Amino acid sequence: MIDRVVYRPIGVIHSPFKNLEDMPIQPAGARGAQGTVVVHPELSIGLRDIEGFSHLYLLYHFHRVKETRLEVTPFLDTQSHGVFATRAPVRPNPMGISVVRLVGREDNVLHILNVDVLDGTPLLDIKPYVPDFDVFDVDRIGWLEQSGKAVVQHRSDDRFSRS
Ligand SMILES: C[S@@+](CC[C@H](N)C(=O)[O-])C[C@H]1O[C@@H](n2cnc3c(N)ncnc32)[C@H](O)[C@@H]1O
Repeated sequence: MIDRVVYRPIGVIHSPFKNLEDMPIQPAGARGAQGTVVVHPELSIGLRDIEGFSHLYLLYHFHRVKETRLEVTPFLDTQSHGVFATRAPVRPNPMGISVVRLVGREDNVLHILNVDVLDGTPLLDIKPYVPDFDVFDVDRIGWLEQSGKAVVQHRSDDRFSRS
C-alpha cells in the first residue's frame, strides 16, 4: 500500500479573501467574488480547450490548516460530526474542492467567479465541471438537511484557524 503521496502545486489561486475569518464557506456564498488562477507557465499547454467550459472544479491544498480533527462542529451546525461528513478544512489530508465559473483565460491565467478560497492557496488540479457527469438527484444530505440553505449568507469564523 502506498503510504505517502507528494503533489506539487500546479499554480496558485488568488481571491479577495486575505483572512480566514469572515469569508464565504462555499462558492454558493461567494457569488460574484472575482479571482484568478495562475497556472505555472510550463503547464499552460494543459489548459488547451478549457475555455469551452463555463464551470471548473478547483482542487487545492488548505495551506493554512494547522491541525487535523476527526470530529468537527462545522460552520453550519452547532453539533459535532465526523470530519468526512463535513467540508471542514481541518482534515487528515487538507484538500479543498470548489466549483467556480470560468469567465476568461489569458495564457496561463484563468479569470474566475464565485471563489471561496483564501488568497494564495496552492492549486493541485483543475477539472471541467460537467453536469451529465456530476449532477445527481440526491435523496439525502445528512445533517445539512437542516441548515444547508444557510450557506448563501453564512461566513466563516475562527473555529478552524485559532491555535
Ligand atoms: C468550509 S471550507 C470549504 C471549501 C471548499 N468549497 C470545500 O468544500 O472543500 C471553506 C473555509 O475554509 C477556510 N479556508 C479557505 N482557504 C483556506 C486555506 N488556504 N487554508 C486554510 N483554510 C482555508 C475558510 O475559513 C473558508 O471559509
